[in-house]
Amino acid sequence: MNQIELKRALSKLPLGDVRYFDSIGSTNNEALAWAASGAKDLSLVIADEQTAGRGRLDRKWFTPKGTALAFSLILRPTTEEKPHLTRTVGLAALAVADSLRTRGLVHGTAAPVTQIKWPNDVLLNGRKVAGILVESVWSGEEVDCVVIGIGMNVAKGAVPSAELLQFPATSLEEWLGPHVQREKVLHDILAGIIALRPHIGTDSFIASWEKALAFRGEQIQVEAGSGSPVTGKLLGLESDGSLRLSAEDGKSITVRFGDVRLRSHG
Ligand code: ATP
Ligand code: BTN
Repeated sequence: MNQIELKRALSKLPLGDVRYFDSIGSTNNEALAWAASGAKDLSLVIADEQTAGRGRLDRKWFTPKGTALAFSLILRPTTEEKPHLTRTVGLAALAVADSLRTRGLVHGTAAPVTQIKWPNDVLLNGRKVAGILVESVWSGEEVDCVVIGIGMNVAKGAVPSAELLQFPATSLEEWLGPHVQREKVLHDILAGIIALRPHIGTDSFIASWEKALAFRGEQIQVEAGSGSPVTGKLLGLESDGSLRLSAEDGKSITVRFGDVRLRSHG
């Protein structure tokens, strides 16, 4: 990654400190350790390659050199933000989705549709382009820091081969051509998180998050842990960011964050 470009792209953002790595195991691991040892609010870890990138439940996240964005942002939540921390994944997903929506069109193609596959993936025309992993550092009963880890496939080379995927994936390059500058996309996502953050506790935040959800009003199936899958119509979100479905008998079902995988069940 071009470090001069990186510095220039980030220069106007009110970040804490920045740690850049050509290669690292996982930016989230680095950020969690840094947060625990006193990192400032809005400190950033960014890497050109991850050799042990993680998704939820230690699933692997591929970040080959020079192809992707892989970074972790440390937030020190304020007293006002603390009651709303379950919404953090929505904050990140909305900032990623917004950063993609503002990108230009190439060769007259129709604008790709950007949606959030609850809870932690961002889709471009129905395929996964980015994943989010939110983790916390606790101090007794209180959350001291939140780490927002974001991985985005920028070049085609970032996309793992189909047999490694449970859900189809894509890259920005596929839709916008080869000249997308990672540093600019990074800037837009960080600026989006910073701008949305003061609104995290509002009803309009939940409304925007809901509006961006993939499969809204459609039949979906949610696999949760080893239990049998739940099916229902995706209605929207509860105020804590849990998913609201209606079952065939009309009963309302709430799906909480955790080991959940969401699929269309058309
Ligand atoms: P999904 O609904 O996509 O199956 P999940 O809940 O099973 O998601 P996540 O924890 O959201 O899993 O994401 C990790 C999964 O993402 C991995 O198991 C792998 O299949 C897939 N994956 C890994 N690297 C990438 C990448 N660079 N781009 C897209 N998908 C990836
Ligand atoms: C997912 O879809 O499961 C989430 C993937 C999150 C990947 C990012 S890349 C930067 C940060 N470091 C990690 O090890 N994981 C997150």
